[in-house]
Amino acid sequence: MAALVLAASTAAMAAVRVGISMPTQSLQRWNQDGANMKERFEAIGYEVDLQFANNNVALQVSQIENMILNGADVLVISAIDGASLGTVLEIAKDEGIPVIAYDRLIMETDAVSYYATFDNYMVGTIQGKYLVEALDLDNRTDPVNIEITAGSPDDNNARYFYQGAMDQLMPYIEAGKVVVPSGQIAFEQVATLEWSSERAQARMDNLIAANYAGGLKLHAVLCSNDSTALGVTNSLIGAGFTKEEFPLITGQDCDIANTKNIIAGYQAMSVFKDTRTLAEQVVKMVQAIVNGEEPEVNDTETYFNGVFVVPTYLCEPVFADINNYEELLIESGYYTREQLGL
Ligand code: GAL
Repeated sequence: MAALVLAASTAAMAAVRVGISMPTQSLQRWNQDGANMKERFEAIGYEVDLQFANNNVALQVSQIENMILNGADVLVISAIDGASLGTVLEIAKDEGIPVIAYDRLIMETDAVSYYATFDNYMVGTIQGKYLVEALDLDNRTDPVNIEITAGSPDDNNARYFYQGAMDQLMPYIEAGKVVVPSGQIAFEQVATLEWSSERAQARMDNLIAANYAGGLKLHAVLCSNDSTALGVTNSLIGAGFTKEEFPLITGQDCDIANTKNIIAGYQAMSVFKDTRTLAEQVVKMVQAIVNGEEPEVNDTETYFNGVFVVPTYLCEPVFADINNYEELLIESGYYTREQLGL
């Protein structure tokens, strides 16, 4: 740390250099995350080395190695596979370079300094509660049929999303009020590698053919995020589901394609995690570190990464649906009406 504070004092001469490693550009939000941070760091005179790793772990490792070689003073990383960065981060640690885990926790290393994200368990809770209310599970007498699509097994967030939602739905499954006709309930059975829309679509095609071809009603699909929700939606449309018989579909990230589907009546909701809020929090965290101060954290208990509990700042997620998307996504400046085809 002294090295960095020293660097900071001499940084008055040379700008503080921040290496930002994002997982991919093929999932919309990471482009926004990267751009939001770059803009805010440059606004305070920091240099930014922003890289996207195309969901390729080896590429992410070599990009981080280069960031270290090119003189990064701080690293901000959203890991593709949380448990794959131990070796390269040992180098960062030896060089006294603080590492902030961005949105996704970095696992199995003590070379990470802080974690900043949205409350991941709360994300799932919001999705589960939304279905409990929208399906009126407490008052109805007839059972409903749902299917479940979770996130990528190498992403530490995916299990928090899944658990948050299942803790809301499981009591109804146990009471026989909610049925999963495919029988696929365990995380391993419903996970979607790389959060891929194509994989989610292919799995849904199989579930429909095996369980719903005879006309069984599907009331809802719990989808952990928008890229998987998009795959599921395309599968249902491809199978001939009309808008009237469309199941309630959940999501996360309020991607443009999915927000359009909410407006069109194909997707019920999406958890909104304002990437500007997280970027601002991380910029504040880095500034504190550079100035030799303790960054603000609000959770020092939850996020054990296999080695230690990483001090964390949790931002609060909310949800968007047909009733509030204009206020949440347009009036807030997150999207323009043109971007949403309005
Ligand atoms: C998660 C992230 C979600 C979603 C997903 C796919 O880690 O928290 O917001 O974007 O990755 O990118």
